[in-house]
Order: sequence, then structure tokens, then C-alpha cells
Amino acid sequence: MKFIIGNWKSNGTIEEKDAMFKSLKNVRTNNKIVLCLPFTLLDKNISHAHLGAQDISIHPNGAFTGDISGKMLKDAGVECVLVGHSERRLYHNETNDIVKNKAKVALDNQIVPIICIGETLEEKKTGRTMTAVKKMLLESIPDKYGDYIIAYEPRWAIGTGLTPTLEEISAVHETIFKALRGIEHEDTPILYGGSVNMDNASQISSLPHVDGLLIGGASLKSETFLPIINVVK
Ligand code: PGA
Repeated sequence: MKFIIGNWKSNGTIEEKDAMFKSLKNVRTNNKIVLCLPFTLLDKNISHAHLGAQDISIHPNGAFTGDISGKMLKDAGVECVLVGHSERRLYHNETNDIVKNKAKVALDNQIVPIICIGETLEEKKTGRTMTAVKKMLLESIPDKYGDYIIAYEPRWAIGTGLTPTLEEISAVHETIFKALRGIEHEDTPILYGGSVNMDNASQISSLPHVDGLLIGGASLKSETFLPIINVVK
């Protein structure tokens, strides 16, 4: 079983969400399908996929206009939540410390955090991918082992149509796996994300230590999302 997780970002209407779940009805797969939807589309009554969110407040409740708490997400039927997506780190100044806190809040609310990490183009160009990814990983994960997921997403590969080579993905996933094994968190699933599409999904998801995929653009429409679900074995 592999995870196939869609991230709709700031996209999607109720009609588009309903159409997606309708088409997922006919999919036969052993993979675990999750859609991380915008807050406005979170719907307890969905079936044929698991419900995910894209952010969680650090605060349990109170005067924090615009924040959605863990308790509220749980109440809305959310099973997992993205934390530290590179767009949150970049546009909302989320640090490893904030990400770690958000992951802890998710776990405290019985929601699985999907902790995103990945190097910048600058780090890649200067040969610092492994050090950057390892530092981000160890500073962003909760201290105690919990039911969390890691998504390795090179920043430069997100929404660009560019992907690392299969060898590069393999090497980073192995580094992440070894770092997690070093702290006895080796059961943590490690996903790859960044310009995944129906042409590269099968090969990437078959690599060792790749336990699934996190998909942005290609998860928005059933014509591009369903073929990915079908090719991942
Ligand atoms: P992409 O996005 O598939 O559009 O590159 C991935 C992500 O941001 O999670």
C-alpha cells in the first residue's frame, strides 16, 4: 500500500470537489488516497478517499482570527494535515520550530501530520541537499515518536515541471530513512512530492524508501489524478 496524497492548495469549488469524489467512486486500488483540501471544502461526508487539511493553528482556541484549530479540524472529519509545506515556509515565514509545534498539535488531536521538507535550488546547486534536508527533518519532527508522515519535496521541483533524477530521489529518501532510523522512528512513511504526474508516478513510487506521493497540480482534475492512482502499485 502506498500513500497518494493530493494537495489542492488555494484551488477548488464545492462543485469541483463533488466531481472529484464522484469519479473516485469507480477507482479500485490498494493505495491510501488522501485529499488535502482548502478549509472551505472540508466535508465529513466524503467517501472513497481520506480527508486532509493544509494547515493547523498552533493555538487550541481563542482570539486568533483566521486560525483553524486541531479540535476544529478533527470535528470537520480531518484525518491528516500538511505542516511546513514549502509555500507556508516561504510566504508565511514558518520556521522548523513552528512546523514542529504544529505537528505536535496535530498529534495531540489524533490527526496525522504530513511534515514537508526539501532543499532550495541554491542548496542543491552548492551540494548541500543532504545537510539541508537532514537539518530540516530533525528540527521539524516531534520529539516523541508518533504516527506522522514525511514528505520530501525539493522546493525547486514544486509546480515547475522539474524533478530530480530517480537516483537523486533515491539518495535523499535513503538519507531521510537512515536519519529516522537513527532516532528509532524508522516506521515513518516517506513520500516524494514535486511535479509528480502520470508519466513519472510509477517509477518514482517504485523506488526503495518511497512510500507514496504528494501531488499538487495533477491532483486537481480527475483526468490527471486518477491515472496516477492507477499506475502506482
Ligand atoms: P506540484 O506540487 O505537484 O504541483 O509540483 C506539489 C506540492 O506542492 O505538494
